[in-house]
Amino acid sequence: MKNNLNLTLVGKPLDRIDGPLKVTGKARYSAEFPMKKIAYAVPVGSEIANGKIRNIDTNAAEKAPGVLIVVTHKNRPAMNFPKKLQGGGSDADDRVPLQDANIRYSGQYIALVVAESLECAQYAASLIKVTYIENDPLIDFKHKSAERYEAESWFGEKICKTRGVPDTALASAPVKVDYIYRTPTQNHNPMETHATTASWDGSKLTVYDATQGLYNTRKALCDIFELPATDVRVVCKFIGGAFGCKGSMWTHVPLCVMATKVLGRPVKLVLSRPQMFTNVGHRAETEQRVAIGAEKDGTIKSIVHEGTSQTSIAGEFIETFTKATPMLYQSPNVFVAQKLVRLNKGLPTFMRAPGETPGVFALECALDELAFALDMDPIALRMKNYARKDQESGMPFSSKSLDKCYLLGSERIGWEDRKQKPGSRREGDYLIGLGMATATYPVNHFNASCKVVLNGDGSFLFESSTHEMGTGTCTVMAQIGSEELGVPYDKVTFELGDTDLPMAPVSGGSATVSTVGSAVIGAARALKQDLINQLCDKVGSPFSAVAAGDVKVEEGKITAGLNDVSLTYTDALKALNLPSLTAKFDTSFDRKKDKYSMHSFGAQFIEVKVDPDLGHVVVSKAVGVFGNGRIINEKTCRSQVHGGIVMGIGMALQESTVMDRRSGRIVNANLGEYHVPVNADIPAIEGYFVPEEDNIINTVGAKGIGEIGITGVAAAVANAIFNATGKRVRDLPITPDKIFV
Ligand code: MOS
Repeated sequence: MKNNLNLTLVGKPLDRIDGPLKVTGKARYSAEFPMKKIAYAVPVGSEIANGKIRNIDTNAAEKAPGVLIVVTHKNRPAMNFPKKLQGGGSDADDRVPLQDANIRYSGQYIALVVAESLECAQYAASLIKVTYIENDPLIDFKHKSAERYEAESWFGEKICKTRGVPDTALASAPVKVDYIYRTPTQNHNPMETHATTASWDGSKLTVYDATQGLYNTRKALCDIFELPATDVRVVCKFIGGAFGCKGSMWTHVPLCVMATKVLGRPVKLVLSRPQMFTNVGHRAETEQRVAIGAEKDGTIKSIVHEGTSQTSIAGEFIETFTKATPMLYQSPNVFVAQKLVRLNKGLPTFMRAPGETPGVFALECALDELAFALDMDPIALRMKNYARKDQESGMPFSSKSLDKCYLLGSERIGWEDRKQKPGSRREGDYLIGLGMATATYPVNHFNASCKVVLNGDGSFLFESSTHEMGTGTCTVMAQIGSEELGVPYDKVTFELGDTDLPMAPVSGGSATVSTVGSAVIGAARALKQDLINQLCDKVGSPFSAVAAGDVKVEEGKITAGLNDVSLTYTDALKALNLPSLTAKFDTSFDRKKDKYSMHSFGAQFIEVKVDPDLGHVVVSKAVGVFGNGRIINEKTCRSQVHGGIVMGIGMALQESTVMDRRSGRIVNANLGEYHVPVNADIPAIEGYFVPEEDNIINTVGAKGIGEIGITGVAAAVANAIFNATGKRVRDLPITPDKIFV
């Protein structure tokens, strides 16, 4: 697939179209659709993490002023309980709420109160009295009663992989490292909490929902309430951050729909910040062993990466931390495998670069430990084992610029000043250290449809039901569309966020630009072709004597070379006597047909200052360099990698969801105690893209940018702290207590 786009607009750091709407408050989020006679729903969570409801007394709540209904498992209306709601990597058997009296995790919804006002509903919720039959919660990985089993496959791909003779090769390697790395539970915590506003109009259900997956949400609701898709519309024009937690439909959505159905009035349900920690997924805790054996010259002979991640008694989610390992470095012998442990926690889910984020932390720390054991420069070790083709599949990479990323990053961070011996650089009370790590994330494609309409005034409207979650989707899609059509950017509008528009997949896996962008190009090309065909067919048209193959559309002008006629799009519509023209395109990506291995690669560089007496860490420099194919919009792309790096620094030093092991309750389910970086924690970040042309991946030539930015950051921070202090911390977050002891 040769891409012949001209490069006039693509790459330009254009401002976001939705920027002014957001800063003036005109952008409407899912909780912001006022409706007549709207009622307010408050879900009530279980206080215990494991057991059964013995009795739930809702009398006082029902009698409270303003209360409309109180629903529990005892009186809920009939709902369908489909076995699997969404498929893919997340088995969601607990997405239908109030199934029975069983309690699987703390915070699991046990009742819904709906009232005339939010305050009434909250007060009534506090009056519900519950008694439980309580069992000890399974919270600890090592709990002897916890069910432990092999994680088998992820989107059809087997997780356990063996290449060569990994154990033998490891045992005989002259230099080896073999350590355990731990990453804690983390929560996404987007600014906008999950929110749903649902209403009925006759037989039609409309749901405004904060979701990264409009079509999936509609399908799940159709399955639960046995409705035809034509009767359900899900709308989400703006998302106030998501990071994966809005990638699946969670329990509160059917609760809200159930309430609106029972009451025959619109109902709004907005989760509280504490509920964001329990009911809408999290990044699973992991415990990973990485062992690497090498020759004395640094040639890797064997890599073993195995371990455990937590899943839920309420369903299965695999945090695929071994996913990148078999591909990333040259090694004749590799073994990767993962286990799952079912605990009394909510279901984990996708969180920014799921799998790679914790996995690359462990692998890239182990590489750094190996470099130290070999007395070798960490970049030299990575270059010594540089993979020129995918080590697992044997396929060539569609493009790979990782070597250039190492080079530019090392220049920008001042790598030549790094000392191999830890603790060698000091500035006052602070020790200075430099660390680096590889970043990697696959290029994903799903499938999408896009429709385009050419209007009589020469403006274009593209439509696809994708999502604007703060990444700049509508801006970038309008850029791609205007580019392909050869018309000014302000002639193009891109509509998204509504299941009434053509199908688009979940906005996840960094696949929106690659997938929906390809559909936009496809629709634009189909429209141009249709115009040409009609012009050539039409008697009396300036092109009636010309073969369609000889007609071209360049820079918005339709010409045939044979004569000097040149039509604008508006001229063409006039010549055809049409008020407008519509075209549609469906992408047909099929991973099974890929002949290339497609990945983004990058390099993360971090400088830290550490006070060894206080354990205080300051990240003083952060440089991320990425090879990401074409950069459609320099500004929105850079924002994504900056955000990823900030999130990676938070992961390295601060973020951790802490559970009370006796009660199974989260003790820091708020933004006061769940620490995320603030501006003072973050240095001026430098994000760079090395030029990379990739005509194989898709017609856009773009690889997707949302997730790679976080990968490798935590390892680069840990490696920098080691370089500064000689202290190797293998369990995140690296809090001061782990440094000064
Ligand atoms: Mo992303 S974790 O696929 O939203």
